[in-house]
Amino acid sequence: MMPFDPSAARAAFPALSRDLVFMDNAGGSQCLGAVADAVRAYMLERNVQLGASYSVSVEASAHVLAGRRAIARLVGVADDRQVVIGPSTTQLLSNLALALAPGLAPGDQIVVTNADHEANIGAFRRLESRGVAVREWKLDLESRTLRLDQLEPILGPRTRLVCMTHCSNVLGTIHDVRAVARRVHAAGARLLVDGVAFAPHRQVDFAALGVDYYVFSLYKVYGPHLAALVAPLGHLEELANINHEFLATEVPYKLQPGNVCYELTASLPALEAYLCALGGGALDVAWAAIARHEAALAERLLCFLRARSDLTLIGDSSSDSDRRVPTLSFAPHARSPEAVVRAVDALGIGIRHGDFYSRRLIRALGLGDRGGVVRVSMVHYNTLEEVDRVIAALEQAL
Ligand SMILES: Cc1ncc(COP(=O)(O)O)c(C=O)c1O
Repeated sequence: MMPFDPSAARAAFPALSRDLVFMDNAGGSQCLGAVADAVRAYMLERNVQLGASYSVSVEASAHVLAGRRAIARLVGVADDRQVVIGPSTTQLLSNLALALAPGLAPGDQIVVTNADHEANIGAFRRLESRGVAVREWKLDLESRTLRLDQLEPILGPRTRLVCMTHCSNVLGTIHDVRAVARRVHAAGARLLVDGVAFAPHRQVDFAALGVDYYVFSLYKVYGPHLAALVAPLGHLEELANINHEFLATEVPYKLQPGNVCYELTASLPALEAYLCALGGGALDVAWAAIARHEAALAERLLCFLRARSDLTLIGDSSSDSDRRVPTLSFAPHARSPEAVVRAVDALGIGIRHGDFYSRRLIRALGLGDRGGVVRVSMVHYNTLEEVDRVIAALEQAL
């Protein structure tokens, strides 16, 4: 088992040299120095239009393609055309809904949850205006998970698509999307999974998950402000073209109107290289080490939170890395989430309060009128010493 040294990881993130505890990582992680260097190098050395025959354009095209290939390797897909790059998950999901729409008939059904970030709900709810019926798979309030048996009565012969989260950005609980995919496929439908809150913490093995569409944001996985949508090639080929009419057969270009941001995409191999190096050359070793370290971080903070009678922990109380990621939320009893966070701000700790655009989830939990939750979201570059600082700050602030 490979020991994990957070100080080696931290050295790769220039922002972490500041005296600030970065624990709003579910909002956005810090960016690798090597990623920023690659953006700069691209812009200064090869900032030309792609696809021309002169040498710099050939080189620029190769660098942008290398970025997409890096993401394909990160999620374990063999063909880089299975990866659509976009500016954000919200934009990619809107684009996907747009590209799915012509293939849907009035009366077809789409299932969305009330536990997702709005990005994975609104884009598909908007299809109602085209006659698509939208059904809601509700969070089970007791287990605070999406339960497969509660999806069952919602699935029907006209269900075409189920949209769900791999892991909520508030609760941190990991869903068994593999099991959901099997059930959804048996019903003749497809499964779209929002992996934004999962991908910074665990390895995404697209084929093993068995889902149809998987989307996540690279700026939360230590990279630049981009996102990726992954799907089997056939699924992407059958989507409507949302780019120029003469690009209809070009996958993924037909799903990337305006093309990708070149300099950011060209920086993505640096992200892959970082994760590989963390695992001594093996991505799965890196992710396993990250999971172990994150479980230790979660356990330290959960120990504190579980023992307090003046707050309600929202989400799984276990630190088991198979069950949760270290995104921990709680509702304070005596003060508002905002008051707690502002008190903590003053101590050089970056955490956050609110609904994190998972507004339906926060309402379902009965926290809509109470300012949502306090969220402490950690990643592998956080340390146990930082968790102790957060605990000391919360002791004062609660
Ligand atoms: C779970 C989840 N899904 C989707 C999104 C939207 O991602 P983006 O900012 O890339 O549009 C977020 C952003 O916080 C998120 O946490």
